[in-house]
Amino acid sequence: MTKKSQEIYSKFGANERAIIDKISNKVFKHTVIHLVGFKMKLQWKGWLQYLIFVPILTGIFLVGLIFYFLIDGFVAWIILGIAFILFMKILLDIITIKYKIRFPEFRPIRNDDKDFFDLIRLRTSCRSFQTKKLEKNDFNELMESVQQNLAEPKFSTGKIRFEYISNPIRVWPTVNATEFLVAIAPKEYDRLTIVEVGRILQKIVIDATRMGLATCWIGPGADHRSITSQLGGRFDSEKDNVICVCAIGYKSKYVPLFIKIFSQKMRKRLSLDSLFFNSHKMDTSIDTSQEPYARFLRSYESCQWAPSSYNGQTTRGIVISDNNKITRIDFMAVTSAKYYAAIASGIWCTNWELSCNELKIEGKFVRLPDAEIGLSESQKNNGTPIYDISWVINEKE
Ligand SMILES: Cc1cc2nc3c(=O)[nH]c(=O)nc-3n(C[C@H](O)[C@H](O)[C@H](O)COP(=O)(O)O)c2cc1C
Repeated sequence: MTKKSQEIYSKFGANERAIIDKISNKVFKHTVIHLVGFKMKLQWKGWLQYLIFVPILTGIFLVGLIFYFLIDGFVAWIILGIAFILFMKILLDIITIKYKIRFPEFRPIRNDDKDFFDLIRLRTSCRSFQTKKLEKNDFNELMESVQQNLAEPKFSTGKIRFEYISNPIRVWPTVNATEFLVAIAPKEYDRLTIVEVGRILQKIVIDATRMGLATCWIGPGADHRSITSQLGGRFDSEKDNVICVCAIGYKSKYVPLFIKIFSQKMRKRLSLDSLFFNSHKMDTSIDTSQEPYARFLRSYESCQWAPSSYNGQTTRGIVISDNNKITRIDFMAVTSAKYYAAIASGIWCTNWELSCNELKIEGKFVRLPDAEIGLSESQKNNGTPIYDISWVINEKE
């Protein structure tokens, strides 16, 4: 590898390195490193969201030209028309979003009149923010939510904190975000602490949604070097670990075409049959229309609409019943991702807990000994599913 290639390669994440390490041909490897490096440069400088369509645009344009000169003039004009519309949309996005030349936008309305289930459906990942900073009262209310949620009883022992950054950091593909909550846990890995990060941050996100604020969880799409450089003395690399960030602000109606498509694709959810099972074998789904399961229908739906990293939807619920009565739910992760699957379980915990509060069903989180969780030998050997925590129903007859 040349010195330049080595320098570019050293900035890559684990995913990019894994792809490049598989290439044996030197020239090809060198070319791929430079191409990926260029893509990452565009990505972190906030240009990729717009320029990603340039190859498609060029392709449509060339097909239009081929039709014009060789096949059919009328069809050629239709194809060239499509290329022109796409070109104008990219140009408009660059002017209004990248260069922020646009009409001022109003603060979105609050959602105080909505119940928890409405808030769950109203929360979507916002990937294009207004240029306006949080108003002082919104900022204060948000910080109150952070303090209150951090002060609640926890099921983990690791010290979690949230640092606030009011400056742009390098994130993908979100645009114009300038305010972030950074979730920090102790450097030493403890799975339950990461689950708790997900649980607490989701409570803050729901409070923000009630306030009419837009949020976007960002994990793999955040450049950690840019986060730690913004944190400065508030981050101790010996003791701290940045788990993820959450962009917060006011939702903009100016959304780049790429982000519109990306967000729509990322919004699809698995059906309840694929998420809730009656045993750890996960071979029989529960019948959510029949008792004793039907009573929790809105809780299942709340978990179904929980956010997860790149919409991986890695959590499953095992609904344990005894004598036709539900006694507990075990939250399991179906991938071995150490951080993002644990966060996803934590987010489910909040959605489950708050939905049960609305349904007036009491319960509490308990981490049962692994021996009490009925995993088969092959599941244990596979390393998945991973048991995270249970919600034990606390109801007297
Ligand atoms: C832990 C976590 C990390 C995420 N990381 C990113 C990210 O890096 N970039 C991004 O655009 N979205 C990210 N998301 C948002 C998911 O893509 C999003 O939640 C999912 O696609 C479902 O869409 P929805 O939030 O609009 O319902 C993340 C979500 C979670 C929970």
